[in-house]
Amino acid sequence: MKSDLDTLSVVVVGASGDLAKRKIFPALFALYCQDFLPAELTITGFARSQLTDEAFRSRITEHLTCRYTPGEKDCAEKMETFLDRCHYVSGQYDSTDAFLDLFMHLQQYEPHSRTNRLFYLAIPPSVFLDVARAIGNAGFVYCGDASPWSRVVIEKPFGEDRDSSDELVQELSLVFSENQTFRIDHYLGKEVIQNLLVLRFANRIFEPLWTREHIKSVQISWAEQLGVEGRGGYFDQYGIIRDVVQNHLLQILSLVAMEPPNHLSSGTIRREKTRVLKDTRPVDMENLVLGQYVSAPAGAPPHQGYTEDETVPDDSLTCTYAAALLHIDNPRWEGVPFMLRAGKALDRKTTEIRIRFHDLENCVFCGPEACPHSNELVIRVQPDEAIMFRITNKVPGLGMDMETRDLDLQYDTAFSELIPDAYEDLLLDVIQGEKSLFIGSQELAAAWDIFTPVLHTIDENHVRPLPYPFGSTGPAEAMDLAVKAGTAWRQ
Ligand SMILES: NC(=O)c1ccc[n+]([C@@H]2O[C@H](COP(=O)([O-])OP(=O)(O)OC[C@H]3O[C@@H](n4cnc5c(N)ncnc54)[C@H](OP(=O)(O)O)[C@@H]3O)[C@@H](O)[C@H]2O)c1
Repeated sequence: MKSDLDTLSVVVVGASGDLAKRKIFPALFALYCQDFLPAELTITGFARSQLTDEAFRSRITEHLTCRYTPGEKDCAEKMETFLDRCHYVSGQYDSTDAFLDLFMHLQQYEPHSRTNRLFYLAIPPSVFLDVARAIGNAGFVYCGDASPWSRVVIEKPFGEDRDSSDELVQELSLVFSENQTFRIDHYLGKEVIQNLLVLRFANRIFEPLWTREHIKSVQISWAEQLGVEGRGGYFDQYGIIRDVVQNHLLQILSLVAMEPPNHLSSGTIRREKTRVLKDTRPVDMENLVLGQYVSAPAGAPPHQGYTEDETVPDDSLTCTYAAALLHIDNPRWEGVPFMLRAGKALDRKTTEIRIRFHDLENCVFCGPEACPHSNELVIRVQPDEAIMFRITNKVPGLGMDMETRDLDLQYDTAFSELIPDAYEDLLLDVIQGEKSLFIGSQELAAAWDIFTPVLHTIDENHVRPLPYPFGSTGPAEAMDLAVKAGTAWRQ
């Protein structure tokens, strides 16, 4: 569906940064190439760095791709007309004058005085509120949600515990209403994550099985092979629970575990996600394993340990790995362990969900030693998006041997369509005012309640994470946590 908006002015605050260059401008270009953006479009980068329009354009061109406009000539033309709409203004983040100056610049390019305005705050959280207030003071924010509208997009981290998150929500709401605020968790824009509701609720077979009677455990894993690689400043302040588990993994958990929504409105979906997060017991130290990577073992390719990185303090206790055992106290999930784990510098890069069904009992194929393996549904978010369902099958031949095989839906071979980058989907939703893939304030509060008490315990007691070698599967103690849950981590 193409946009029916007449005018749009996008202001990317922090336009000199990594996120803007790698994700936001490429996503805007992808939408532009597919005619999702209105003809009257202005895109303005704002940051403190002094850049000319030309320098700014050449900086963002680096990451623009022709995925949607094959053909050298067509792509070059699209790129040229897109870049013509991109401008740059420099200024201080806390200065109303700087934003008034930005407004004067915008007036040169915007044919209408009342243009729909999208502010993307691609800046560190320490300056979120300064920028929001300056935007508000400069008179950029329209009242209400009707067109012309003003919307703001913010990126995690949304605070560092329940209180700081509430404060951020409260302070930001003085400038942008909750309806005007779009909190991005880019995992919600990923294709396979968006498919979770379809998989669960558009297939007759899954919903009756999606309960404690049939499901033995749920695992949600996020693993990265890289360490902090010289970008330890931000990470060291937050650690893996705040950076990945409390947001990305809890968002995935809420989609896996929520009750069926009675319709697809964003309010209903967010209400159901909030409800299941509120039913999730806060995590305690007994159900948590924390790790920090150390250098790679002798004989393996050399890699520094976390605290050897020059951007990390030598005595840092920040966790680069966490495994947590969660319980959801509602009739559907009572007694089913939800195991979440996330780690840097591990042996693989993956994000996946594993739903393991109960073992067979007294089945006709159970022998004196064992029954067939339990079924497992594996949903791989990245890399190589896939959905696999592990079944027991007869080995072709004259005997009755059985083996475990996968019904295997690999996206790259099953679909000819391009898989959009998460930011393309999410930005289009912001422009269209669709909020189901964004995190509401109540959902955010419920997610913080699950981890805030244990984060305070860790911080106050200076809990020392367990060492694990770079390139390993993480601390061995995480295996014990899975055993305690009556299962095992599956790769
Ligand atoms: N990069 C990612 O993939 C990613 C993923 C998820 C979330 N995020 C979040 O998205 C936001 C932007 O990420 P990013 O990676 O683009 O950040 P970044 O490159 O570190 O910062 C963006 C811009 O903000 C300005 N800036 C940096 N440090 C500052 C400071 N201490 N005080 C004031 N201004 C500062 C710099 O611009 P000037 O010096 O020119 O003003 C910089 O170019 C952050 O909130 C981050 O947590 C990023």
